[in-house]
Amino acid sequence: MKPSGFNRARPSASVLAAVTMSIMSAALSCGSGIAQTMTLQERVKTCAACHGEDGNSKLPNVPSLAGQPEFFVLNQLFLMREGVRRIEAMDGIVKNMKDDELQALAVYFSKLPPKASGEKINPELVKQGEALAAKMRCASCHLPTLAGQEQMPRLARQRIDYMIDAMKAFRDNKRSGADTAMTAVIVGASDADLTALAHFASQR
Ligand code: HEC
Ligand code: HEC
Repeated sequence: MKPSGFNRARPSASVLAAVTMSIMSAALSCGSGIAQTMTLQERVKTCAACHGEDGNSKLPNVPSLAGQPEFFVLNQLFLMREGVRRIEAMDGIVKNMKDDELQALAVYFSKLPPKASGEKINPELVKQGEALAAKMRCASCHLPTLAGQEQMPRLARQRIDYMIDAMKAFRDNKRSGADTAMTAVIVGASDADLTALAHFASQR
């Protein structure tokens, strides 16, 4: 059966936010936003200012998007558009984008080659992180290569500073995602543990 809201004209953002567990179906009924006529190339240029010309970020605490699984990027853009994941810097950027534009961006970034960020690596922390990652089974979701899959992000070659921030946000219940998997994994981990894990993951 189709949800009864399917024919409703333009549900408000807050209505949509209330049904976050059905982001996909909610998005279907919301395709009528004001059309922005920007080509993919023009869109991508606006992203480049923060996420890097080639999708590899050079800015502290801004994630690289190159080589992220397509579904991860799409999922995060949905979460942002529906106001579930709030990112001040990106406020307004994804708000009026249609589903097919989000999809096109996800495909685009998933195909770019990921590059190391050039941040300073501490080999001792890499070793500690490797042991922790084995114990905490990061590979069971993010894959042994840490390249990510489906809704699970790539960690390999991601920025260290960003990953530390992201993990702290999960641990401290400050980042709501589509599920609570990550929070469950690292609840109780110390800042030092998270730093070691990020050093290790960036090096895969
Ligand atoms: C003004 C800077 C800025 C611009 C422009 C920008 N972003 Fe972002 N974006 C950020 C920041 C900062 C974060 C991470 C915020 C956080 O969680 O701490 C982010 C996070 C993301 C994420 C989540 C990635 C992850 O690994 O969790 C995606 C996907 C994303 N942006 C896509 C885009 C796309 C696509 C565009 C262009 C249409 C764009 N961004 C434009 C600053 C920006
Ligand atoms: C049970 C599956 C699972 C396990 C195990 C897991 N993760 Fe995750 N991780 C996820 C999911 C799902 C997300 C994305 C959540 C969301 O929707 O925001 C994520 C997101 C992340 C992010 C945010 C990256 C970004 O680009 O925003 C980091 C960093 C991360 N995980 C690191 C780790 C590390 C390190 C480990 C091992 C200690 C680990 N994860 C174990 C499922 C898992």
